[in-house]
Amino acid sequence: MRRALIAGNWKLHGLQENQSWIPALETAVTTPPSNDVAVCVPATLITTMAQTAPDWLSVGGQDCSVHEKGAHTGEISARMLADAGCSYVIVGHSERRADHGETDAVVKAKAERALEAGLTPIICLGESLGERDAGNAEDVCRDQLLASIPEAPAAKVVIAYEPIWAIGTGRTATAQQAQDMHEILRQAWPGDDHDALRLLYGGSVKPANAAELLAQRDIDGALVGGASLDAESFASIIASAK
Ligand code: PGA
Repeated sequence: MRRALIAGNWKLHGLQENQSWIPALETAVTTPPSNDVAVCVPATLITTMAQTAPDWLSVGGQDCSVHEKGAHTGEISARMLADAGCSYVIVGHSERRADHGETDAVVKAKAERALEAGLTPIICLGESLGERDAGNAEDVCRDQLLASIPEAPAAKVVIAYEPIWAIGTGRTATAQQAQDMHEILRQAWPGDDHDALRLLYGGSVKPANAAELLAQRDIDGALVGGASLDAESFASIIASAK
């Protein structure tokens, strides 16, 4: 049985705009959720978040280094994230693939470092609008999956399918489009333990569309960007998880 995971991704948003986020979330979520919940925050906020979050809220990073340690100025290792209080780390988000030229091989190496540090990597993938319009979405996503995943049991990783055209655009994949891709990705998982693989959908998830997306057979949770910044919206999405 897969436990749903609702993970927030604050991206480059800090506590200035979110000072009352934890109290507001605790007010909105009155009983501890039966599914897993995490919030992936900028690195400078991890310790504060980990110290102030309620027990049911895990903390994650948004990226980690391919290196464990050494002369790599500006990098943060997976082990450092774990030491600071993280349980998860996002790797291979399309914004990092685009802004920092991260390849599937880099994403795979980051996921490996995450596992070695005891973190659960949330490995992101997804097609561009051009790739979807050309009818290549399935092949693109399957190839990204196979090239980005570490050798590990399915239960140790999380995959987030995030069509690039749906991220931050207000345009969501339909529940059927997302379900179809999730089913393809589950079948493409190279082990016979694919039933244990948690597949999140991400891309303009909000209170209004979360329940329908999360009701799909192969959608095991959501990676939530913009709507996670608002505690009430995030709480509503948490409540929509099966
Ligand atoms: P969005 O972002 O919910 O704002 O579309 C999702 C993500 O990029 O993880």
